[in-house]
This record gives sequence, structure tokens and C-alpha cells, in this order.
Amino acid sequence: MSVGSNIKHDSSYGHVTGTSIFVDDRSPLRNEIHVGVVGSPYAAGNLKKIHFEEALKLPGVLAVYTAEDLSHNRWGAIFKTQPLLVDKEIGHFDEPVAIIAAENKEVLPKARKLIKVEVEEKEPLFSIDEAIKKEQHVYKATPIIKGNVDKALKESPRTLKGDFECGGQEHFYLESQASIVYPLENGQLEVHSSSQHPTETQHLVAEAVGVPFHYVTCIVKRMGGGFGGKESQAAPFAAYAGLCAYKLGRPARLALTKDDDMAMTGKRHPFKNYYEVGFDDNGKILALKADLYSDAGPYADLSSAILERAMFHIDSAYFIPHAKITGTCCKTNLPSNTAFRGFGGPQGTMTIESIIEDIAFETGKDPAEIRKINLYGKETNNTTHYGQLIDHNPLPEIFEKIIQKADYKKKRDEINKFNKENNGKLRGLSLGFTKFGIAFTAKFLNQGNALVNVHLDGSIQVSTGATEMGQGVNTKIQQIAAHAFGIPSNLVQVMPTSTEKNHNTSPTAASSGADINGSATLKACNKIKERLKIVLHKHWAGEISDGVKEYELEDCGDLSHIVFEDQQVLDKKHGHKISFKEALSIAYFNRVSLGSYAFFKTEGIGFNKEKSEGKPFNYYTNGAAVSEVEIDEYTGELKVLSTDILMDLGRPINPGIDQGQTLGAFIQGMGWVTGEQLYFSDKGKLLSHSPTTYKIPNIQDTPRNFTIEFIENNNNHQAVHRSKAVGEPPFLLGISVFMAVKNALTYRSRERVKLVSPATNERILEQLSGNMNN
Ligand code: MTE
Ligand code: HPA
Ligand code: MOS
Repeated sequence: MSVGSNIKHDSSYGHVTGTSIFVDDRSPLRNEIHVGVVGSPYAAGNLKKIHFEEALKLPGVLAVYTAEDLSHNRWGAIFKTQPLLVDKEIGHFDEPVAIIAAENKEVLPKARKLIKVEVEEKEPLFSIDEAIKKEQHVYKATPIIKGNVDKALKESPRTLKGDFECGGQEHFYLESQASIVYPLENGQLEVHSSSQHPTETQHLVAEAVGVPFHYVTCIVKRMGGGFGGKESQAAPFAAYAGLCAYKLGRPARLALTKDDDMAMTGKRHPFKNYYEVGFDDNGKILALKADLYSDAGPYADLSSAILERAMFHIDSAYFIPHAKITGTCCKTNLPSNTAFRGFGGPQGTMTIESIIEDIAFETGKDPAEIRKINLYGKETNNTTHYGQLIDHNPLPEIFEKIIQKADYKKKRDEINKFNKENNGKLRGLSLGFTKFGIAFTAKFLNQGNALVNVHLDGSIQVSTGATEMGQGVNTKIQQIAAHAFGIPSNLVQVMPTSTEKNHNTSPTAASSGADINGSATLKACNKIKERLKIVLHKHWAGEISDGVKEYELEDCGDLSHIVFEDQQVLDKKHGHKISFKEALSIAYFNRVSLGSYAFFKTEGIGFNKEKSEGKPFNYYTNGAAVSEVEIDEYTGELKVLSTDILMDLGRPINPGIDQGQTLGAFIQGMGWVTGEQLYFSDKGKLLSHSPTTYKIPNIQDTPRNFTIEFIENNNNHQAVHRSKAVGEPPFLLGISVFMAVKNALTYRSRERVKLVSPATNERILEQLSGNMNN
């Protein structure tokens, strides 16, 4: 039925015809005003004064607001230490210092030019190493310790010491940060925001203007992409629009330009990780000591949770007997970094994948062989460095299958031959894994609620805290509800997310949107079904209300023989049947509720950081990819010749959507490790602030041969309908492209290749012209 089938994405028609409505597509209301943001002209310093008198004189400019106009000026997803508008210390270049309210959009850039920000400049800090030296950090994690790493390193036949560095990444969602706020009666506000986290957005708007939370409703119809960039960082922009709407009593619209969005908002965290690894002559890892350093920017944002996820994912798919992993979020004067698909997982995983390539180089073995002997086992070697048992570990099976599917050995032989020909091209091959922990690592976030309204014509509206950002969560929820009632999916509508219908929601993040909100939806549907079964049981038994006696919903024992199928309700034991619509009618006229609300929390998770004990994750989503690349030795140009992907997604609710998620995540991951490089000026201003200077992958960069398959797995009882979360895990498979480049370079190098991510054409060329044999 509906669950497990490829019904189309609920926005597909709208997206291709251009009729989908994003925030800035909302028709303007009479009286509506436009809001612009003024950024800091320095990366560090103390704010002395903002001169905006000249700007106020411009026709059309209504007001300029600064920190003093805010009722409360500190926010933060975890630590509430970040100003909405700078009040004293400047954190980074283009950090919001003031907002402009105007009658039209055209006057905003002119007004911005007339605003002078007086600053007592300070020496900014832009690199992780500098921050380490100056002991500048926003967070230090509790180390993860397993066994005795010092002893194990000392006893290891071989060791390697080094560092691994990976860069940041711009989210490049197609819809910039955007909000429209409508003032309602008595100071209430209706906020429409492109936000992954309507509840946090509601809270921040309320705090900024100084009203209780119940004065503010935040509504999210959809986002034109979020990718983590709207988990925390959508909220301040809604607060700016909210402040203008509240102060001026007029609807206020804020939609950042692409350039402003890129310059003002945070990105993926760059990491620099120092390590020492111990192994034997076969390349079996015996111990790993790693100190992870992320570039957090000036504020904490989600950095602590991202760092901890990186520490949890430093194993990739490999068993590490002795480990000590430390982590620090460095404080720098670059835009404050935030959630981005994978949430630290990629930065952790990439470190060990790079180490594995180095171990292969040092031992003279194929990297796939090193991966195989270190892979988590099914019965033994199946506990992570933080003590979680890997249940039903499919990794060995995935390894065997991907080697076959990608014809790894044949490709390796061919590459060995090809690279000897010296024809100006160099090829490389790599296998990479994803073993992504599913759950918010902050336990309290693993909760959700759903509201289901069944209407008398048999159509259904579902509301949950999940937000649709393109990932298809609405479609999955639609399928879950349709399946529950045995009706076609077009009779279910998933409604815009609103804090009025679903309260205290978690962000749609951690790939668990469908897991959490889909489960809550199923629970709510089941409550209504149980009521309907009782009504029908009584109806068929002739016990229905006579119009005098009140009808009671009482326990009628096991009614599992009453089922919902094909828009009918059937009593399989007694042979009764009735249409779904008639069943609803009987219930309604007997005053039985056709709406329900349900709460869901993920069971069985919880982790004690101090003791490194417990289970941070509900389960893992696993997969592997083999990528083959070709680089031009004269230009450094990179081509991905092939990528073969194998994913374990349990029993997908919508295999087509999951295929799209796998493909998109892989390409986005590949972009992070190849072409996407952020450039800042020596004053800390983002130079790569538009598509002309920041290159995301396009169709030419897509693997020439590209296959995606799923393994069969009916055993995931941890998630709704035995599905598995898909949104982030395949992002980590993009790393295989980087490792294939690294592998290609080893064919021309006497020493192990020290390649920094992203492997841009320039970096590849640099490697080929230094350090090379010929
Ligand atoms: N897919 C699209 N099309 N657009 C997005 O913004 N975000 C990703 C992923 N897939 C994203 C996406 C991220 S970062 C996460 S955490 C998940 O979707 C969130 O959705 P889910 O939990 O409902 O899968
Ligand atoms: N993943 C994604 N987003 C989050 C998390 C997480 O583990 N924790 C808080 N926000
Ligand atoms: Mo995704 S980075 O958890 O929004």
C-alpha cells in the first residue's frame, strides 16, 4: 500500500511549475514594509557608535533599530550568549549591527551606505592554529576514552602522527534566510519564516520584542533548502522582521540577497585534527589518539553538539580498541559556524578515512584491505569507542557487496596499469563508508507531537513539528497516515508547520524528522482507529445509541480483526464491511472525536559523557561507496569517472525519495571535499559570496557512471515501519571522491600524501608540482 511506494513528492508539481510558495512569494499586504540588515565593517573590535541620522533622512526610510531597541539581546541554541545585534564586542565581519525598516526594497542599499559604524578596532583571529596558540575557545568537550591509549600506542609495532584539515562549506540553499511578520491584535505576531526550527524562531521573536511566547505563532510552509543552515540561524532574521512589525505596527518582510546571506551567516565548521595512530604490520589499528579542533567562529551556536558528533564519528566504520578523543571549539572572528548536513560527522569520519589511506601507503597494501581488516564485526569487535554496541551490523555484508558491485579489484588492476602509462592523466580509487548515528545527541530533542484531523468526506489533515525543506518529510508523513487508514495518499494533506498546532517542537534535523514526526503521526492515527473500531463493533452488534442513551467508548476487548483497507473498514471475523466515509459518519453522529493528538519520544537512548557510557544513538544508517577519479597532471582538473553506492535504508517509506536524498547528499558531500572553497579577505570579509566565486557541483562534476542501490533489511525495529533515516548519512560517502584523489596522488609520490580538503584543482596541481617523482 502507500508505505513503501514511490508516490510523488508533495511539492514536485509546484516546484517544476513555479507555483510552490516560498516566504518571499507571499503577496504583499497593504502597508507592508521592507527590512534590511546592516553588517559590521570590521571583523573584531568594540562598537562605539552607529551614525544613522543621514539614512533616516532618505525618503522611504522609516526607522533604524539597534541593540538598544531590543527587549532581550542574547540568543543561542545551546548557550544563550550571542547578540541579535552587536551591542559591544564585534564577532565577525558583516555581523548584524543594525536593521533598517523602509517603505520599499530599493532604498535599503542606499540607506545602508549612509550608515556609519564607528568601531575601536581589535586584532582579529582567523585560524584554528592561532586560536589554539592563544587559547581562544568557546567550548571544550569531555574527552571520550576507551582502554589505555598511551600504553597501546607504545606497544604498537608502528605509529603515524599527523594532522588532518578540512574546510568549511556554504549551505547554498536556493532560498535565502527570509521572514515576514504580521502584527495581529494586542501585540500578537504571526511569523512566516524559512526555518527548520519554528519553535526556536517563535521564542526568539517573542524575546526580541518582549512578549510572552503565546503572543507569537511561527508558521513554516516550506523552505527552499535548509541543509542545517536554518536550524538555528533562521531565528535572528525573523526577530529582526518581528521587531519592525511590532514597533511600527505594519507587516514586515525580510529576505536576504544571496550575497548578504552568504556573507552574514555561518557555514560548516572547518576542522583541524591532530592524531597519533598505532597499528600492526597488516595495518590493523590498535590505538587512536585524536585532538579535534573546530573553527566555531565567535559564538557557540550549535558548535558543541557538532564537535561531539565529530568525536562520535571519528571511528567511521572501524573498530578502535584503544582511543582517547578530545575536542575543542576554537573561537575565531569568522561568521559563526552552524549545523550543516552531517553535523560534524563528516569531519570526524574523514579524519580516519585519511588515516586509513596513509596506513595503506605505509604498509604497501590496498586501502580496501586495510578497511576490511578494521571493519566493525558482527559478533566481535562491534562496540564503538564510546561504548555503544552495533546491533545487526550490516557493514561486513555491505563491504563484500560493494566490492563486487563496483568491480573494485578489476578497477584497481586497470588503474595500476593506466598510471604506468604516463599519459598526463592519473587515476585513483577509493572505498568509503558511512555509519551515521541516528538521534539528536541532546536526548531531550528526541521528542515530537502530531495532530491528525479526519474530516467527514474521508480526507485527512496532519500537522506535526516537522518542516519540509525539500527532503520529502511531508510526503512520508502523508504515506504513513494514508497507510494507517487504508486510503489513497491524495486524501491526506500535510499542513504547514505551526507552533499553534504543535508545541515545543525540536528542529527538523539530525535526519530524524520522519522518524520522530512519522511515529507521532502513526500514534495519533492509531488512536482514532481504535475509537472507530469500537464504534463499528457496537454498530455491527446492534448496540449503537438509541438516541436516548449516551454512547460510550468502552473497552470491547481485542478488535484486531477490524481492519482499514481500500477505503473500507472490514470485520474479518464476522464478515462485515462499511465504507470509510460511512464509518466516519456513524462516529460523528454518535459524538465520537475524529481528531487526535499524540506525543512520541525515542525510547532507549541516553549517554553519560563523564563515564563514556550508554547509547547516544537509536540505531545507525550504514552505506558504502566506491569512487574512481581521473586527474589531469598538467591542470589539476578532476573528473569523477564512477561512483557506486550501496545503502542500508531499512524498508524505505518512499524508495524514490530516499534515492533522491542519497544522490543529493553524495553530490553535496563531494562538493565539500572537491570544488567548494571559502575565501576570506585578510580583514575577514567573505570574498566567495556568490555563485560566481563559490562553486558547487554541477552536472559536469557528477560521476560519469553513477549507481545507487539499497540492500534489503527488514530488521530495523527502531524506526517507523522499519525504515531508516536517510537525510545526512550518504553525505559522508562524498568523502570517497577525496580519498580517490589522495590515492591517485600516491602513484606519483615518494612520501605519504598530505592533502588538505577540499581537493581543489589548484591544490591537486600544487601536490603534483611539489613532492613528486617525475
Ligand atoms: N534535502 C533537501 N532537499 N533539502 C534540505 O535542506 N536537509 C538535509 C536532509 N536532506 C535537506 C535535505 C538535512 S541537514 C537534514 S538533517 C535532513 O534532510 C532533515 O530532514 P529529515 O530529518 O526529515 O530527513
Ligand atoms: N544533530 C543535528 N542537529 C542537532 C543535533 C544533532 O545531533 N543536536 C542539536 N541539534
Ligand atoms: Mo541537519 S545538519 O541535522 O539540519
